[in-house]
Amino acid sequence: MYDLARLRAQEFPWTESGPTVYLNNASTGPLPARTVRAMAEFNARRAEPFRITDADEFDTVARTRELVAKLINASPAEIACMVNTSYGINVAARALPLETGDIVLGFDREFPANVYPWMALERRGVRTMRLATDSNGVPDERALIAALDRPRVKVVTVSWVQFSTGFRTDLATIGRLCRERGIWFVVDAIQGLGAATLDVAACHIDLLACGGQKWLLSPWGSGFLYVRDELARTLEPAVVGWLSMRASLDFGHLVDYKFGYHDDARRFEVITLPFQDFVGFNTSLELIHELGPANIERAVNGLADLAVEWASARSDVQLITPADRTHRAGVIALKPRDLGGAATRLERAQIAHAVREGCIRLSPYFYNTKEDVMRALAVMVGEDD
Ligand SMILES: Cc1ncc(COP(=O)(O)O)c(C=O)c1O
Repeated sequence: MYDLARLRAQEFPWTESGPTVYLNNASTGPLPARTVRAMAEFNARRAEPFRITDADEFDTVARTRELVAKLINASPAEIACMVNTSYGINVAARALPLETGDIVLGFDREFPANVYPWMALERRGVRTMRLATDSNGVPDERALIAALDRPRVKVVTVSWVQFSTGFRTDLATIGRLCRERGIWFVVDAIQGLGAATLDVAACHIDLLACGGQKWLLSPWGSGFLYVRDELARTLEPAVVGWLSMRASLDFGHLVDYKFGYHDDARRFEVITLPFQDFVGFNTSLELIHELGPANIERAVNGLADLAVEWASARSDVQLITPADRTHRAGVIALKPRDLGGAATRLERAQIAHAVREGCIRLSPYFYNTKEDVMRALAVMVGEDD
């Protein structure tokens, strides 16, 4: 396990020097100090572009593919660098060969990034089906499993962790059932990856989109799309970049126009990428690997447990996130009797949180302390004196 005090001092010095307690990682994660330095160093060279080589650019994104692949048990050939989550979901929606009458199945109350790209297919006759949640907005996995056997279900698309309730989908079970039925399984991983560990092969995921800006502690403009090997070699990209093509690797003969996609996920990349952001992404991913994704997961679970146990014992605050550890990660949704008052008290105490769908959303991360979480809970209900 890592040394929390040292980590906070070195990478997140504001946690020690300022008044803010930051429990809003599900909105935007902080940049570690080493990431800020790496980007500044790269940008200083970029100011004088003769100090940046082609290798600086292309080795950076090659390194991203390696670091991401290691994080999710994929191969670098299955990773495309993307600038956010939404672009990756759009790649999935546009590249999978869906026909009139085919059904895309998911949960209601998903974050819209994983809804609109599929709704946009309705114009060409693809049907989207969003399964009702319970009255608290928590998805019903059993209803999803039962719906898999409807005729014409071709895609299941879910958030790994839901943005508002913190419900964590059992990817391994749903993925296996999809694979058995020949249904493509698409995942929006942005609210899970980092806070929890993931094995895309064990979960039978076909495509997975993730931005870097939350639990991967990375700049806006960084992210990736995982495309399972066979699909990365065969799906036709709907949007084509010049570097989607094998021939473009030869900068000496760019205008020969030999049409032929890469035999890997690079065919989905739309170059030119924001290389400075991928320098930052790599640095943060290295930190995550250094600390150990399983250690991070353990720390997040420990902090989330505090909120779950606290809320379970109270009558004035309802726990919306499932109490069961297998169905949650770093997002904890709490519904206090007096939502407005709770939010105001947190704001006044400079405890960064989010209000989402009628709940206070707390999203502690591995650099937070138990005291951070316990203080937020006490402030929320006005018991901090
Ligand atoms: C589940 C989910 N998907 C996607 C996003 C963001 O998508 P993008 O990276 O495209 O802005 C968010 C939050 O902003 C989210 O909570």
